[in-house]
Amino acid sequence: MRIILLGAPGAGKGTVAKLLSDADGSVQISTGDILRAAVKEQSVLGREAQGHMERGDLVPDDLVMELMEDRLKKDDCRAGFILDGFPRTITQAEALKILLDRLHIELDFVANLDVPRDVILDRLTTRRTCSNPDCQEIYNIKSKPPGSDGKCSKCGFPVVQRADETEEAITHRLLTYNEKTAPLIGYYDKEGILKTFLSLESGKTVEAILDFLGKRQ
Ligand code: AP5
Ligand code: MG
Repeated sequence: MRIILLGAPGAGKGTVAKLLSDADGSVQISTGDILRAAVKEQSVLGREAQGHMERGDLVPDDLVMELMEDRLKKDDCRAGFILDGFPRTITQAEALKILLDRLHIELDFVANLDVPRDVILDRLTTRRTCSNPDCQEIYNIKSKPPGSDGKCSKCGFPVVQRADETEEAITHRLLTYNEKTAPLIGYYDKEGILKTFLSLESGKTVEAILDFLGKRQ
């Protein structure tokens, strides 16, 4: 599949993307995961991105487009991809369109994960994430707890709260989403490739997406 997952912070983009990737082998491309790994590594990109991310602001479009252009050209994308957290602005969406045209890649559709705000706030304050940059498995102390020793059940690294999980940063991320990212819903609706899913149970959302793509027996 070649899809974009749209949705507010905490809507479950990462959770749904991992399940979809398990279902058909398409690669999950999360700009948030790539940027967090770069911050941990303290690469040039990571040092540029760190302050923006910790405040809950978006990383500048030109940096994100540069990393996505490299990422989408990698061989593993031929099996399909799930874009998680990208594009995030109209500028990124327009640049993506030009890039995909140039690479002769056509999107299947854009899945918009719709989740009520009170559910989102609860999910974000109870989320935990694997600290291994190569894993970044997503946990939740209520709905998907890590192992009893607080370690990732996939790779054994400690499971932690993300640096942008303070109350202040969460509020700011939600405002940034409303201002900069929510307009993409109208943008892709106009393009005729948007489908919205009320996403309260990730498993059901995944089934609905696979059904929509005709990928479920
Ligand atoms: P990013 O990492 O993309 O964060 P985000 O969009 O704020 O989204 P989250 O990862 O917080 O939520 P999610 O929708 O993935 O939900 P999850 O599956 O974890 O971006 C971080 C930062 O990087 C940005 O603020 C920005 O600075 C920068 N950045 C990234 N991309 C960028 C771009 N393109 N341009 C510019 N800057 C960029 O689920 C949340 C929790 O809920 C988890 O605990 C999960 O277990 C739980 N959960 C999920 N689904 C369910 C369910 N159905 N039932 C119960 N619990 C559930
Ligand atoms: Mg995520």
